[in-house]
Amino acid sequence: MKYKVTCSELDYRGYGVVKNLEKVGFIKNLLPGEEAYIKINFEKRNFFEGEVVELLSRSKHRSNYEDDLDNNSLIHLDSKLQLEFQKDITLQTFLRNGITNFKLEEIITDNRYFNYRNKALFFAKNIPFLTLGGYKEKSRDFKKIDELILAEPSINEILKELNEYYAKERVYYHDLSSVIIRSNYLNQVMVIFVTRSQKVIPDIVYKPLQNKGNVISIYQNYKDSEKRNTGEVSVLLSKNEYLIDTISGKEKYVLYPNSFFQINREVTKQTYIKISNYITKHDVAIDAFAGISSIGQFISDRANYVLSIEIDDDSVKAAKESISLNKIKNIEVIHGDFNKEFNKVKNKANALIIDPPRSGINERVINLINESGLEKIIYLSCNLRTLVRDLKLLTNYEVISVTPIKMFFQTVEMETLVYLEAKK
Ligand SMILES: C[S@@+](CC[C@H](N)C(=O)[O-])C[C@H]1O[C@@H](n2cnc3c(N)ncnc32)[C@H](O)[C@@H]1O
Repeated sequence: MKYKVTCSELDYRGYGVVKNLEKVGFIKNLLPGEEAYIKINFEKRNFFEGEVVELLSRSKHRSNYEDDLDNNSLIHLDSKLQLEFQKDITLQTFLRNGITNFKLEEIITDNRYFNYRNKALFFAKNIPFLTLGGYKEKSRDFKKIDELILAEPSINEILKELNEYYAKERVYYHDLSSVIIRSNYLNQVMVIFVTRSQKVIPDIVYKPLQNKGNVISIYQNYKDSEKRNTGEVSVLLSKNEYLIDTISGKEKYVLYPNSFFQINREVTKQTYIKISNYITKHDVAIDAFAGISSIGQFISDRANYVLSIEIDDDSVKAAKESISLNKIKNIEVIHGDFNKEFNKVKNKANALIIDPPRSGINERVINLINESGLEKIIYLSCNLRTLVRDLKLLTNYEVISVTPIKMFFQTVEMETLVYLEAKK
């Protein structure tokens, strides 16, 4: 059965919302103003989800890229309009949650719509020879990828070369789960072969990379759990131990296979400049969930002192080596769980810069922050839902400004920077 619908707006996943049937519906690949025949895929008591069977009218904001919506959830919308989408969803989410009195700042973007990712993961499948690609959303349908339109060109070059080599030389290796390719500002790359066992990977699998000048590091990572993309253990197979990248062009960051590093260098630079502007020379700042202490190091010349706290071994090692490379004297890296360390350091600082994983901040720690006497909080978030949840719990702080950050064009992923001050 098909139904005729008109789309009124987009939801946070980029699905078209339709309200002209009995229940509200969410339709993949439908834009505001468009009419379509749709079919219903599943239905609950008060909503349904469906897909377009026939598009009856086309929005002037529809882009020319229609396939690959599985991996690029907003690619069907004109890139410029994607900025409006993010601003709108951000504002509506804050208002709906009763956070109303703040300044909505200009969205941070560099208008680089494609080829911005400095890291990408490709799954490996033997069909019958090794092939690198991806899976369709929520399915086991594998598709070979020769070019990832969001990835930096040096990543695509390696991807294509590996796929061609595996096909030509008829290479298969059942233990290979995925390949991660990471590029830096000089187009040098680190390639990480993620395996299902600790058995050393035969060099036939990475042979064409051995003589490639811009491949400066080759690793094997052992994935010890099906739930995660990588495991804790990485072994160097060939060449350098680390890759070096930069954000401002001035400082250098050492990256190991598991070190967290922001995906979009230019947008990160603008974000970090914005964070620095909230910091003054008398501030002692906690850089919580610090990764390789990239924020800590970036802002260190604006601050009196920085305390970077990070749990991951690889990232802590990389942070310490970067700080030494950059000859920064006013940062201390604390290797530990922020949820335990915060209580020990809170009295030493007056500012908190916090960039947690998607799950946000632990509620017990939020209570400690409320009682801490910290003057300001700079909250960088990759999840609007947990961000507003946490902001509502930070009752001793008021939201002064909110800056949407368009880090990931063609997707609905959103970064947001919030500046809070202690209530007087
Ligand atoms: C979103 S990343 C932020 C990294 C960094 N701020 C940056 O801009 O590159 C979150 C980081 O938090 C770390 N992390 C996760 N849970 C943690 C915890 N309980 N205590 C300390 N660090 C943690 C992760 O290892 C990861 O490096």
